[in-house]
Amino acid sequence: MVETKEKKAKEIPLEETLNELAKRRGFFYMSNEIYGGLTGFYDYGSVGTLIKRNIESLWRKHFLSIGENSFEIEPTDVMAENVFVASGHIKNFIDPSVRCKKEGIYYRADHIIGNVLKKSVEGKSAEELSKLIKEHKIRCPKCGGELADVKVLNMMLPIKLGAEGDTIAYLRPETAQGVYVNFLRQFNIQRGRMPMGLAIVGKAFRNEISPRQLLIRQREFTQAELQIFFDPEKINEAERWDEVSKYHLKVLFVGEGEAKKKTCEELVSKDGLPKFYVYHMAKMQQFFIEVLGLPEEKFRLRELDQDEKAFYNKIHFDVEIYLESLHEYKELGGVHYRTDHDLKGHQDVSKKSQEIFYEGKRFIPHILELSTGIDRTFYACMELSYRHTSEREWEWFAFPPKVAPFQFAVYPLVGKDNVPEAAERVYRELKANYAVVYDDSGSIGRRYARADEIGIPYSITADYDTLKDDSVTVRNRDTMKQIRVKIKDIGKEAAKLAGLDSLSQ
Ligand code: GAP
Repeated sequence: MVETKEKKAKEIPLEETLNELAKRRGFFYMSNEIYGGLTGFYDYGSVGTLIKRNIESLWRKHFLSIGENSFEIEPTDVMAENVFVASGHIKNFIDPSVRCKKEGIYYRADHIIGNVLKKSVEGKSAEELSKLIKEHKIRCPKCGGELADVKVLNMMLPIKLGAEGDTIAYLRPETAQGVYVNFLRQFNIQRGRMPMGLAIVGKAFRNEISPRQLLIRQREFTQAELQIFFDPEKINEAERWDEVSKYHLKVLFVGEGEAKKKTCEELVSKDGLPKFYVYHMAKMQQFFIEVLGLPEEKFRLRELDQDEKAFYNKIHFDVEIYLESLHEYKELGGVHYRTDHDLKGHQDVSKKSQEIFYEGKRFIPHILELSTGIDRTFYACMELSYRHTSEREWEWFAFPPKVAPFQFAVYPLVGKDNVPEAAERVYRELKANYAVVYDDSGSIGRRYARADEIGIPYSITADYDTLKDDSVTVRNRDTMKQIRVKIKDIGKEAAKLAGLDSLSQ
């Protein structure tokens, strides 16, 4: 049995293993499954939803406390066409697509070419990409068929509103625009103070040409974005600089081979990055490494070159994590200095001034955007917590308690002789403060396996000894070590174990 598992783990690619566990244990699965699935769309099941909510809560707690003046808002997913004329998405939010002439399948042209040439060709025009395909005789990666000329496709999803369907609107391709159109109203509501943070945790929609890699490239996904409005003359200032000045960031600059650790102070004094920007880079890194517990050795903040940068950014570093299942670094988020690009665009198209009068001068604020893809972060947490060893017959997820779907599982060893009553007492006490599951079916080994497979950090069992000394067994998921704890002390012990001081559940 042990050998079979070991063998299985070696032979099956990690992406497939995670997909199988995700489906079987209710993390996520293809949406509209009974109709054959809808490509690029995933549903979160009961376990995945709990984990995703935890990641979102941790995001809110971390990012909304960066400044004193940051709040979350909830604008609509559907936005007027002019919003995207103003933002530049109608003109610039395009991806190059290429069709296999033999099978008619569409691919992202830059991805296919990049894979063959082993370098990024993001940002090149359709003509340049078509030329590269011809020059390097690049063919369809699936069937080897000839590729057609590269075309550009706008990635937004339009919808027709009204009885006649004559009003065109769009599902927002980024949450950001929902904040920008609310800027002036919120500036007044937040009593005209700067810097001002406005966050949205919500859906974004993109008509990706080739959705793939499970949650990594979907057509509907969740973003958590904080937009910080600030006075551009203060870009070299950061109010709580002392908190981060000695903190090391792992940064990969354009043209450098590997990421280096540099203090925030060095990034400002030697690399010339603005203090305000670097302070917020630190806050991003802290979220992924310190709050979510992702391994620093797989993390980096990568500077994007002129061709790769989003069309609205002046300075752009992506948060990247190495994912073994995909054999590459993946972007989980970004720190985007968008300047006044968006507010100026909205001023021009809406004809409503976006200027403010602040500290004796009139100007359009600049925007620093801290953007996180929640689904990609979820996938990274899942992959990087995945464990299997020859000592255990089943796989498990070593989620930190704050991320885990439940912090505790409670079991009665047997279903008689007042043992269930003791387990229920523990369950009720913990339930008030934690996410707890009560499981009384199957052997204790099966129950441990079920808990481990969804990453519950602690399993608590009431047994016959409980009836004698009013204590229960607490098993640690990762070490499998067990301790005995008196039921009267379980609340105190649980607080210590779960370390939930940073997550209000
Ligand atoms: N407002 C800025 C913005 O939208 P982006 O880099 O296009 O920037 C931000 O997207 C984050 O959203 C990415 O870092 C990624 O984590 C996530 N994301 C983007 N496209 C995605 C997709 N098709 N599927 C899942 N997540 C995606």
